[in-house]
Amino acid sequence: AIISLKQLLDYAAEHSFAVPAFNISNMEQVQAIMQAADACDSPVIMQGSAGANRYAGEIFLRHLIQAAVEQYPHIPVVMHRDHGPSPATCAQAIQNGFSSVMMDGSLLEDMKTPASFEYNVAVTRKVVDMAHACGVSVEGEIGCLGSLEAKSGADHSRLLTDPDEAAQFVELTGVDALAVAIGTSHGAYKFSKPPTGEVLVIKRLKELQQRLPHMHFVMHGSSSVPQEWLEVINAHGGEIPQTYGVPVAEIVEGIKYGVRKVNIDTDLRMASTGAMRRFLAQPEHVAELDARKTYAAARDAMQALCRERYEAFGCAGHA
Ligand code: G3H
Ligand code: 13P
Ligand code: NA
Ligand code: ZN
Repeated sequence: AIISLKQLLDYAAEHSFAVPAFNISNMEQVQAIMQAADACDSPVIMQGSAGANRYAGEIFLRHLIQAAVEQYPHIPVVMHRDHGPSPATCAQAIQNGFSSVMMDGSLLEDMKTPASFEYNVAVTRKVVDMAHACGVSVEGEIGCLGSLEAKSGADHSRLLTDPDEAAQFVELTGVDALAVAIGTSHGAYKFSKPPTGEVLVIKRLKELQQRLPHMHFVMHGSSSVPQEWLEVINAHGGEIPQTYGVPVAEIVEGIKYGVRKVNIDTDLRMASTGAMRRFLAQPEHVAELDARKTYAAARDAMQALCRERYEAFGCAGHA
């Protein structure tokens, strides 16, 4: 069944686990996420971005998720709109059946320019009023994602969420979940070396939880960038520079301090790209034309990765 984000995260908090929120754009990803959840009895969060809407369209995403719910009626599924740039976009997602929306007012509608605290509060409050009237949950964001590796820059302070500002934001908006900035960033290029506590500031979550003991925190940019997949891609014609992500062990540490939703997109992209490159490069597949076999290789690789995350984050067994 489709449930709201608040329903799932309240339960996750009671049982001290987190749920990976996987980005989806196509059927194979949806199937991988659901097969893995079915295998280890985990609840599911699937989320669609602006890019996914451009690729598949929100109506296709809705029906893919609804097909998953029909096929796996025993698994609770949250259908979430990732990084809504405006109240209008969130309204559209609600109308399309999403049970949760993110109003990302940390940036202006261009999704580039950092916004003021007042702007963020105003747009987020508007979405909360609208969404809660429909039984839909809202994720807000305070602070901006970005690398702390460059030690200077005008907006360096925004890259670590301020606990007092976060508390004020929650008070003024009534959000159900809060995305915070602790040094992660979107995409494969998060850290140039394995991250230390200086650039991936898990201890900030501890400070945030002291200030907001009942809030559900969301970690964005939380792909781990598996080195195995990087090597597979590069061994089969890829040219991905050396790069590091957020180690699973650090996410598990964050879960102790209230992290309940962990956004992952890049890791599924790496697993599927690696699996497809490897499959197509095998001598026995050079004459293969049944593209379903290539997609199936990608799906199997994504399924294994999803299952690892369900198990590591403690949500396995909680469907
Ligand atoms: O928020 C970032 C996600 O990785 C989505 O990226 O807009 O390319 O689908 P996308
Ligand atoms: P990654 O790029 O680390 O997978 O992050 C995805 C994300 O935060 C989507 O909102
Ligand atoms: Na989100
Ligand atoms: Zn994100």
